[in-house]
Parts: sequence; structure tokens; C-alpha cells
Amino acid sequence: MNKRIITTEFIEEDIKTENHLRPVWLKDYIGQSKIKEVLEIYIQAARQRDEALDHVLFYGPPGLGKTTLAGIIANEMGVHMKVTSGPAIERPGEIAAILNGLSQGDILFIDEIHRLNRQVEEVLYPAMEDFAIDIVIGKGATARSIRLDLPQFTLIGATTRAGMLTAPLRDRFGVIQRLEFYSPEELSQIILRSADVFKMQMDEAGAMELARRSRGTPRLANRLLKRVRDYAQVKYDGRVTETVAREVLDILEVDRYGLDSVDRNILWTMIEKFGGGPVGLDTLAASIGEDAGTLEDVYEPYLLQNGFLQRTPRGRMVTPAAYRHLGLPVGEK
Ligand SMILES: Nc1ncnc2c1ncn2[C@@H]1O[C@H](COP(=O)(O)OP(=O)(O)OP(=O)(O)O)[C@@H](O)[C@H]1O
Ligand SMILES: [Mg+2]
Repeated sequence: MNKRIITTEFIEEDIKTENHLRPVWLKDYIGQSKIKEVLEIYIQAARQRDEALDHVLFYGPPGLGKTTLAGIIANEMGVHMKVTSGPAIERPGEIAAILNGLSQGDILFIDEIHRLNRQVEEVLYPAMEDFAIDIVIGKGATARSIRLDLPQFTLIGATTRAGMLTAPLRDRFGVIQRLEFYSPEELSQIILRSADVFKMQMDEAGAMELARRSRGTPRLANRLLKRVRDYAQVKYDGRVTETVAREVLDILEVDRYGLDSVDRNILWTMIEKFGGGPVGLDTLAASIGEDAGTLEDVYEPYLLQNGFLQRTPRGRMVTPAAYRHLGLPVGEK
């Protein structure tokens, strides 16, 4: 299932382009206007006081620009950013060493921060709150703890699963921001900007067609753009128009709402096997052969966002819009 062209998670074919296409300054970061507004103020205030920025937590579905924002903050603040991730830090000593290596004002970016283990997390509490870590020296009865001061730093955490963060960790972030799916208009601006970077010829209608089918996600928009580029180069002298975009997306079986065969299969299964629902997450996951966590974090958000799916206390239900999209009479079982 990871082979889906439209997965919004990072996949191998993104490696070459992802960093290349990342905006570096806040002014080039398109969309998420609420977050930009907040950050602008915090960054300016911190710079004026010559202090480190408050700790920041970004959460939201994959590919919406959390890592990009962390890099932008580092640039705007003019500081270094050390990048690591929750699963990469296994022992308390490792996080202590990382923290100890930071300089005044530096940013520590921890991706997938919900996957930090408990002992590592406990080192972070005093580090975030008091810029200090407690180190235990010696063993048994003679063991004593000494406090080591750290430079003022900013922790930026990113997660696709905010619900899995522990309360004590979450409470230590001064700024918590959720990233939203992008509108087709915003995505089409991102696509035109990327097309520029690639030196592609692309008209606005072509960009809009791609944007509509990119599931509100810049990572996917950029990936589809690359596919279209190859196709346009070979068949259409490199020019991307609406027709070219449509042709490529049809070949990739990405429909006009950005749904692919996996999404349609989820909706079909719910309608065929469960009369449209309500059906529990685990039952549904089992019948499409996917694990419940992935279904919930990767597939569902977009179907919910587009009104094809509804969460009810008794389980998931398909909506009339889903029946219509699949060409079924509403309420058909
Ligand atoms: N607002 C934006 N404007 C322009 N490009 C963007 C924007 N947001 C994201 N992108 C592009 O989308 C790609 C994915 O973004 P990013 O890696 O920051 O996502 P993420 O939220 O960190 O994803 P993950 O949860 O998988 O780590 C990047 O290559 C970046 O160029
Ligand atoms: Mg990321």
C-alpha cells in the first residue's frame, strides 16, 4: 500500500526533490496563514529581546509542511538547527548529549516526537522548563544527582499524532499549532512555484487541475508535478496544460477529488460489506487489510475533510457524497 502514488507520507522518490523545493523564508511559505501570523510575531519578539523562541509543537497529517516550518524558523532566527527524531533517541544519555551540544538560541528539531520513550522524555522536562538537566553520578547509596545548566534553546517538535503525546510534554510547549490541509488555490500557487524551480512551462489551469487532485497536501502536489513533467517532456514538448495534467492523473488513477483506488476501496467496502456503516475502525481496517493506526492517520483525514466519511459515536459512516462520487444511488446497499 505504500506504493500508492498519492500517499502523503515521505517516499523514496521524494528524496531528490524535497529539500530542493522547500521554501526557506516565511514569506515564501504559502498558506497556513494563521500559523504564519503567530510565528511572525513570536519570531520578531524573540529577536528584539535577543532571546530563544518559545518551544513550538507542530502537528497535523504528513506532508503539510511541519519540517519545512522548523527550517524556516531557524533561518528567520538566524540560528543552527539540530535535527533528530523520537525513535532515533533511545537512551537518556543520548538526549543529554544532544542537549549539551547546543549553543545559545539553537533549535533542536525532534520529528515524530510522540515516539520518544518515557526516560528520554523525562530528561526533556527540566531541559525545556529550566534549561537544565539532572545527571546521576555514582550508584546505589552513594549516587547523587547534579544539575547541569544548558544554553537557552528552542525545542521544535513535530508529530502526525498529537493524541499520542503525553500531557506533561505537551504542556511544556509555549506554542502549539495544527497544520491544516491546503485549499486548491494555495496548492496551485505552490505548484507554480515548484514548476518555476524546475524551469517547467505550466499554465494556471494546469496547476489548478493538479492542485484539485493533490489531497490538500504540498508533498503530493510536488510529486504529481514531477510525474506530469516527465510526461509533458516526452509527449508535449514540455508544456503542461490542463489537458496534459488531466491525462497524467487519469493514467495514475487519481480521480478529480484526489482519491485513488485505495480510498475508493475503503468507501466501497463500507457500502458493500457494512451497508454504509456505522462500522468500527478496527473492523474496517481488518476488512481492507490495513492496520487501524494507518487507516486513522493516513487515509481517514482526507476522506473526513472532503465529507466522504463521518465519525459517529457508533463508528464510521459513509456520506451521501460518497455514494454520489462512486456513482451509486444514495442509500444503496
Ligand atoms: N507552505 C508550503 N509552501 C510551499 N511548499 C511547501 C509548503 N509546505 C510544504 N511544502 C513542500 O512539501 C514538502 C513536504 O513538506 P514537509 O516535509 O515540511 O512536511 P511534513 O509536515 O514535515 O511531513 P511529515 O509529517 O511526513 O514529516 C516539502 O518538500 C515542501 O517543499
Ligand atoms: Mg517532516
